[in-house]
Amino acid sequence: MNTVNLLIFVPLFFTITVQSIPKPSLSPPHSVKQNDTNETIPLQQFFEVTLPLPTDVITPSCSVTLLNHTFTNTTNSSSVTVNYIPPPETCKWSVAVLDFQVKDNSTQDNSNGNGIAGVWIDGVEVLRTSTAQPTENVSFWNVRKDVTKYYSIITQHNLTLSVVLQHLINKNDNVSGVNYNVSVSFLFYDKILSSRSHSLNRKLLPIIKSFELEDDKLVFDGVLKSSYPYDTHADSIIPISKPSNDGFWFKIHDEYDIRTKNVRICPKTYKAVLELFVSFHGDDEFWYMNPPDSYIKANGLPITGKGSYREVLVTIDGKLAGTVIPFPVIYPGGINPLFWKPVVSIGAFDLPSYDIDITPYLGLLTDNRNHSIGFQVTDGVSFWLVDANLHLWMDDSNVQEIVEYEPPSMEIETDYEFEGLDGTFETEVERSMSSTRLVQSSKGIIKTKVTEEIKFKNKLKFKDDGTRKELEQKIKTKTKVKVTDNKGHSIGETVIEKTYPLTITVASGRGSPSGGLRVNTTVVQGRSESFSDEVASISRVLNHDLNCTGWMVVKGNSVISGFAENHQNYSYNGGEGGCYSRTVDVVEGDVVVDEMASNCVK
Ligand SMILES: *[C@@H]1O[C@H](CO)[C@@H](O)[C@H](O)[C@H]1NC(C)=O
Ligand SMILES: *[C@@H]1O[C@H](CO)[C@@H](O)[C@H](O)[C@H]1NC(C)=O
Ligand SMILES: *[C@@H]1O[C@H](CO)[C@@H](O)[C@H](O)[C@H]1NC(C)=O
Ligand SMILES: *[C@@H]1O[C@H](CO)[C@@H](O)[C@H](O)[C@H]1NC(C)=O
Ligand SMILES: *[C@@H]1O[C@H](CO)[C@@H](O)[C@H](O)[C@H]1NC(C)=O
Ligand SMILES: *[C@@H]1O[C@H](CO)[C@@H](O)[C@H](O)[C@H]1NC(C)=O
Ligand SMILES: *[C@@H]1O[C@H](CO)[C@@H](O)[C@H](O)[C@H]1NC(C)=O
Ligand SMILES: *[C@@H]1O[C@H](CO)[C@@H](O)[C@H](O)[C@H]1NC(C)=O
Ligand SMILES: *[C@@H]1O[C@H](CO)[C@@H](O)[C@H](O)[C@H]1NC(C)=O
Ligand SMILES: *[C@@H]1O[C@H](CO)[C@@H](O)[C@H](O)[C@H]1NC(C)=O
Ligand SMILES: *[C@@H]1O[C@H](CO)[C@@H](O)[C@H](O)[C@H]1NC(C)=O
Ligand SMILES: *[C@@H]1O[C@H](CO)[C@@H](O)[C@H](O)[C@H]1NC(C)=O
Repeated sequence: MNTVNLLIFVPLFFTITVQSIPKPSLSPPHSVKQNDTNETIPLQQFFEVTLPLPTDVITPSCSVTLLNHTFTNTTNSSSVTVNYIPPPETCKWSVAVLDFQVKDNSTQDNSNGNGIAGVWIDGVEVLRTSTAQPTENVSFWNVRKDVTKYYSIITQHNLTLSVVLQHLINKNDNVSGVNYNVSVSFLFYDKILSSRSHSLNRKLLPIIKSFELEDDKLVFDGVLKSSYPYDTHADSIIPISKPSNDGFWFKIHDEYDIRTKNVRICPKTYKAVLELFVSFHGDDEFWYMNPPDSYIKANGLPITGKGSYREVLVTIDGKLAGTVIPFPVIYPGGINPLFWKPVVSIGAFDLPSYDIDITPYLGLLTDNRNHSIGFQVTDGVSFWLVDANLHLWMDDSNVQEIVEYEPPSMEIETDYEFEGLDGTFETEVERSMSSTRLVQSSKGIIKTKVTEEIKFKNKLKFKDDGTRKELEQKIKTKTKVKVTDNKGHSIGETVIEKTYPLTITVASGRGSPSGGLRVNTTVVQGRSESFSDEVASISRVLNHDLNCTGWMVVKGNSVISGFAENHQNYSYNGGEGGCYSRTVDVVEGDVVVDEMASNCVK
């Protein structure tokens, strides 16, 4: 049983019965536990194609299981809170991994939308994830995330850990029959392998070059070395979230809904990065396919629109300090739920977070007074879940900063043409910002210049009396960080480029003998990211593409038949840190190809 928020004019939650019977999938690399139970019921394993963690092949120095809970009612459910237990003093570690495991034994009669979950330590968010669609049988998945950058939080005593798993439905729907066994653990790894480390996964080991062993030492470089802006972990992390019993996120309902939190920042702070977590739901789950209001009004449609451009605005004391156009994560019930079984879409199990360097504003913030940090969603429609972690780096030496900055500038161009239900809507946005700061320390004067450019292009076409929707979208960002010493010599030049193309087609029409609505669907999505530092000779390139084609017949609230293919190519080149690539082909829920390699392809 499944649900889909189908993209026809009246957005509805459809409950679908999947007729195709997927076999248990091939195991992804981190499907470690095979024999711990002798399951008689077949298990369906869901997975996201992503870079495996180098630590997956070794035994943790220590681990702490913090929560083991069964969520049975996820309608507006409240959070589950336990004491957070840091690793014992005796545990030697340098890498921390959050392990989030879910076993889904939901019964078939639920008619839920997508489930969204969050994990917080004292209000600091460490994971945002969505739930796979329930299957006929028990299904499970496992999310592992490197959480070393939260060092200053995960080493503290007397904190709480909270987990929320909700089906946030706009209507008065019930979510019944759900049964998610969620277990949350923290695994702590040391770089030095114990000579008795038998659990080393020999099969996986050769796959990733970066795991080369040198004198019993794992070479963690590349994959594990976190990069800008977390080259070193922060000294303190302040949650910009809202303590409440149903999650620490702010639920933002529309563009006028401004949420703020007051913070006081230590004057010794010399660097500050705001890490933003964002997910979009309800009428904005597919914000990038929303038509403009003029079209809706002209056609008298009972839907919400506001066009197809969204960005999350971050303000400091009411002034714009940064903006984020989120990666369009498609949750496992989205567009055509048959696509996402057993492999989910890019980011579905580990929603990306976004870093905004607010160091240029420190001059304003470090005066020992309260300042308000605010969030807003441009043209937002109900609803968005937003919060952030403020990472702060401090120094005892007398750091002085002189800063110049240009607040984000924006150019937006829209071109809407429509006749009746058919039309073409184009939106183009360009943003740029820059800042320069000088830091004087024992090392002399260091000048850092950050420039960022964001480009957004969205073309939405409605054809055949609006029954056919075509989307072509591209989000591009380029961030440059240039560091020079007092003689003007370059000591660092980092360039980060991200390109997120997305193409979606949804065409519905009668045409099924059973009288249902046949909906043809395609999703082509990409995530390309590159990071380079010429001075340090570091270069990392990630290219992840997915291509899904298929159709479904929807009758009443159910998908009664359908067909889906999902092809994904993942390639990561970490330069000296090694390479990893994976190709996954899924046809009708069967994993027909799953190949991994470690060759570096140029
Ligand atoms: C569910 O389990 C039954 C047997 O218990 C099996 O016949 C069927 O193929 C399974 N379905 C899926 C989708 O794995
Ligand atoms: C898992 O179980 C199978 C059969 O029950 C057995 O052959 C295999 O050795 C077991 N693997 C491990 C790692 O225990
Ligand atoms: C697990 O299943 C296998 C085959 O069905 C059986 O031989 C074995 O005894 C079972 N092990 C346990 C611990 O139940
Ligand atoms: C969670 O609890 C169940 C039942 O109490 C137990 O079988 C399982 O091993 C526990 N899992 C973890 C990770 O502690
Ligand atoms: C689930 O929780 C909701 C909201 O708290 C409540 O209204 C509903 O009655 C609960 N359902 C069940 C079956 O307990
Ligand atoms: C799934 O839930 C049903 C009832 O809710 C229970 O009888 C069954 O044992 C559960 N299966 C597993 C694997 O937990
Ligand atoms: C934790 O809190 C308790 C009670 O407030 C206090 O006695 C204890 O010293 C605290 N422990 C640490 C490590 O801060
Ligand atoms: C869940 O919350 C939403 C909005 O907060 C509300 O409209 C809805 O009635 C609630 N549902 C239940 C079952 O309590
Ligand atoms: C919610 O579930 C209860 C019990 O299963 C049912 O009586 C009620 O009608 C349901 N409400 C809605 C809005 O579906
Ligand atoms: C979930 O955990 C509960 C105990 O916490 C256990 O009774 C149940 O069998 C577990 N279900 C699955 C699917 O593991
Ligand atoms: C869906 O695709 C099929 C096969 O290509 C085609 O025959 C049918 O007309 C399409 N339906 C719609 C609504 O586009
Ligand atoms: C996606 O796959 C279809 C066939 O499955 C192919 O025709 C199409 O060219 C592919 N698109 C891209 C962008 O790779």
